[in-house]
Amino acid sequence: LTGTCWLMCNLVEHQINKSARADLQSEAVAFTANYSTDAAEVYYNSSLAAWNYQTGISEENLNAMNAENVKSAAFTKMYGEQAKAEFPDTSKLEESERRQIDSIKILGTANLNEADLNQYNDLTGGMEATYSTATVTMPDGRVLNLDPDLTALMATSRDYNELKYAWKGWYEAAGRPIRDDYESFVTLSNKASVADGFADTGEYWRSWYEMNGQLEATVDALWAELQPLYTELHAYVRRKLYEKYGSNYINLKAPIPAHLLGNMWAQQWGNIYDLVEPYSGKTGVDATPAMQSQGYDAMKMFKTSEEFFVSLGLDKMTDEFWANTMFVKPTDRDVVCHASAWDFYNKVDFRIKMCTVVNMEDLITIHHEMGHIQYYQQYKDQPIPFRGGANPGFHEAVGDTLALSVSTPKHLNKIGLLDEVEEDDEADINYLLSQAMDKIAFLPFGLMIDKWRWSVFSGDTPKAKYQEKWDQLRKDLQGITPPVERDGTTDFDPGAKYHVPANTPYIRYFVSFVVQFQFYQSMCNASGHQGPLYKCDFYQSKEAGAKLQKMLELGSSKPWQFAMNEITGSADMSTLALQEYFSPLTAWLKQKNLENGDTPGWTDMDWRP
Ligand SMILES: *[C@@H]1O[C@H](CO)[C@@H](O)[C@H](O)[C@H]1NC(C)=O
Ligand SMILES: *[C@@H]1O[C@H](CO)[C@@H](O)[C@H](O)[C@H]1NC(C)=O
Ligand SMILES: *[C@@H]1O[C@H](CO)[C@@H](O)[C@H](O)[C@H]1NC(C)=O
Ligand SMILES: [Zn+2]
Repeated sequence: LTGTCWLMCNLVEHQINKSARADLQSEAVAFTANYSTDAAEVYYNSSLAAWNYQTGISEENLNAMNAENVKSAAFTKMYGEQAKAEFPDTSKLEESERRQIDSIKILGTANLNEADLNQYNDLTGGMEATYSTATVTMPDGRVLNLDPDLTALMATSRDYNELKYAWKGWYEAAGRPIRDDYESFVTLSNKASVADGFADTGEYWRSWYEMNGQLEATVDALWAELQPLYTELHAYVRRKLYEKYGSNYINLKAPIPAHLLGNMWAQQWGNIYDLVEPYSGKTGVDATPAMQSQGYDAMKMFKTSEEFFVSLGLDKMTDEFWANTMFVKPTDRDVVCHASAWDFYNKVDFRIKMCTVVNMEDLITIHHEMGHIQYYQQYKDQPIPFRGGANPGFHEAVGDTLALSVSTPKHLNKIGLLDEVEEDDEADINYLLSQAMDKIAFLPFGLMIDKWRWSVFSGDTPKAKYQEKWDQLRKDLQGITPPVERDGTTDFDPGAKYHVPANTPYIRYFVSFVVQFQFYQSMCNASGHQGPLYKCDFYQSKEAGAKLQKMLELGSSKPWQFAMNEITGSADMSTLALQEYFSPLTAWLKQKNLENGDTPGWTDMDWRP
């Protein structure tokens, strides 16, 4: 009897549980469907308001954007609270609904009360406006904006003192004014993240990678594998700068002054390739002269990029894209020039905002931004919570992966942007060094920005230490030093880098610079490429395109490890593809530094010319 009851009772209970679970599951299906329908409209409106502000900075547009942000926060809160009330435990739901509802439950800044939210919106809008409208007045009276003026000056000037003046001017104009605001912003942002159950905003950002708290350890381990190559590159470039600027300015054992590397943040060094070219007299690797002599304009550059995507069997840009994109800097108003790609959540309206300059750097940037658009297009039929990258690094990697193929001399020759292609070891080293100036030089920068921000959000770095911590990371990781003394009570160099005032997380770029080589390797293999990895051009390979597409259309519906496995056949992030790509250069740099008697690395001395 007891036995029968045991069996019957369990059977009944099992049935009850099963049908309760089915009810909960179908409720969840209806709830998430409603969410996506409603979110599409709310996100469209708030994206449009943000677009209007960034392409026309004015008080009126700021107010309109903030009004939409308040509406969208109310929406997030309404659905988030409903999700928490109706689905306190999502573990019994199927994966799709579970992932969607878990993400709907996170309110972010919608946790803030009205006064706090208004202040938060004012702070973020204001910091971005300060950055986007900052200018530097040069000794000769010229007033320079960042894009295109200071960017071009940093790229092309080889005058130590002019570069120093521009560098100092920019960090003072863009960084200093927002130091106080940044602290207030951090307080509010943390308040919102704590309400979601995170220790601070840094922990919230890291949660997007679904790595159980192991993201920082993982990126540190990847960096440890790549640091030796970076250090060899650094020593080689330091020697070349020493030859250019002399021993008054460059110390062969010390960090490099930050303003000599062709870029306001010393984040990518490709613009000083002319100073470091290993073998002069070989054909160039720069398509800029050909683009300019052939009358390229922004439209032609965008069409060139689109054609590459289409050649892989991927999507064309939509009519709305061509109608609404901002291709060049308007002359009649202030805009946020920093290039970006936009999804308006209605499956057809996607846009890029860019102040295009006709050169190869911007051609590559267009591929980068169009990679975001392609991702938006490929996952447009996913529910809204899944319309994102497998992780944020994947989103950044798509266009860059294609650009690795586009940059090959073989490809540039094919599309008429390089006259002749030399195929010998010296030409190959020239090409690999030019790639390293962007791809390897970037790595420690990609790592240090969020190492700084994570430590600010966690409270380890209070306001009084903002500048000191920044300088420390710049020195330890990048081996660079500010060209003029910094003042910890007024200077705020982090504020002079777009992603800090614009509050865009940054570790995604470090991740992207690793995984894009994995994607590239896998697509090259699919295209049937043979020979050194760095020579691969998968143009017109439908097989390569299909591999990428399988990953893109998943959006964030699965953990990124699943998407990684779809494209590479392995679930891990790995530096092996990157190391293989650069292996001939790695050997060459070691040899060269040895010949020069240079020891890679730098002393900790606070050296300044
Ligand atoms: C979904 O929306 C419909 C129509 O507005 C409503 O009747 C229904 O209750 C909603 N379902 C859930 C689960 O929120
Ligand atoms: C979106 O904007 C349109 C046009 O201003 C408006 O009619 C609509 O109600 C807005 N929708 C939401 C959800 O705010
Ligand atoms: C490359 O492709 C071949 C055949 O398509 C496959 O057998 C091999 O496993 C692939 N290798 C890598 C590293 O993806
Ligand atoms: Zn991007």
